[in-house]
Amino acid sequence: PDFDVTLTEQPVPAAERERILADPGWGRSFTDHMVTIQYDAERGWHDARLRPYGPITLDPASQVLHYAQELFEGLKAYRQDDGSIVTFRPYMNAARMNRSARRMAMPEIPEDLFVAALEQLVRVDRDWVPTAEGYSLYLRPFMFATTRALGVNQPAQEFTFAVIASPSGLYYRNGIKPVSVWLSQDYTRAAAGGTGEAKTGGNYAASFAGQAQAVANGCEQVVWLDAVEHRWVEEVGSMNLMFVYGSGAQARLLTPALTGTLLPGVTRDSMLTLAPDLGIPAEEGKISIEEWQAGCESGQITEVFGCGTAAIISPVGTVKAADREWTIGTEPGPVSMRLREELVGIQYGTRPDPYGWVHKI
Ligand code: COI
Repeated sequence: PDFDVTLTEQPVPAAERERILADPGWGRSFTDHMVTIQYDAERGWHDARLRPYGPITLDPASQVLHYAQELFEGLKAYRQDDGSIVTFRPYMNAARMNRSARRMAMPEIPEDLFVAALEQLVRVDRDWVPTAEGYSLYLRPFMFATTRALGVNQPAQEFTFAVIASPSGLYYRNGIKPVSVWLSQDYTRAAAGGTGEAKTGGNYAASFAGQAQAVANGCEQVVWLDAVEHRWVEEVGSMNLMFVYGSGAQARLLTPALTGTLLPGVTRDSMLTLAPDLGIPAEEGKISIEEWQAGCESGQITEVFGCGTAAIISPVGTVKAADREWTIGTEPGPVSMRLREELVGIQYGTRPDPYGWVHKI
């Protein structure tokens, strides 16, 4: 569908916008516009609008409010040195939203429509893409069920897809300083056959208690273990995990395989692709907490970091559980930083883009 365009009569004044962009924090401020597109079984996707950012009216019986039929995605728009604005691998986000949609009995959205929605919003709000190094405009596409029905015998038939945008600085206030992590043995994030690999709000709702427990134990982030044996490492916070074995020319990368309970991250995939090009072999596998601890204590494991769109990378410095504790390091490691630099360089256009990942708006 074509987008019906209504521009806001009350944009944030330029001076106020500049003040926000100088120190945006993360996920606190939103741009002047948003996109909404409606779906019903009869008409498919229709009523695409670029419109002023603002509240959405929902019937109190809307299914999303009761049964959490919801999906979301996250990606960023970057301002490159020559002034052009780009996003990174947006079709990968579109494809992932559609995989999530199949798991959550929600409609797939044509990938071109998903990307067109991003383009519409970024074009109209292009002044909201920060110029400062490392800052970006975080884009949040999401979809939710609006059918007015409390029955659960049938999934909803009506949905809204929307995109909002939020200028973003550093996800973690302390930048890329290594964090302390808590191994969660009381809570799990996902089990086989569940929704762990779908990017659906409920997975994040279910994570808050585990995150709170990590904080109560003096740690900054929670590490999720498998739901059966509570020993196989899956994710950290809302990020995928990467382990560096060895150093220098011997360094290699290991990340937990996508067993169905892990989120298939775009940053994860990008690092698995880029690492071998930098001479760092990369593999997907399995790692237990015993192997993690022994690897760190013997010096075989030299760096560990979480990776995701929001934080890019977040090194892990210390690991704690009820019955154990060990240390990895107090500074980000060279392999972590090298991978981060390469990825960020592609996104900001300061390095070649051999895989055509950058998408000009
Ligand atoms: C990420 O980008 O790493 C995320 O998982 C998004 C987060 C804010 C939920």
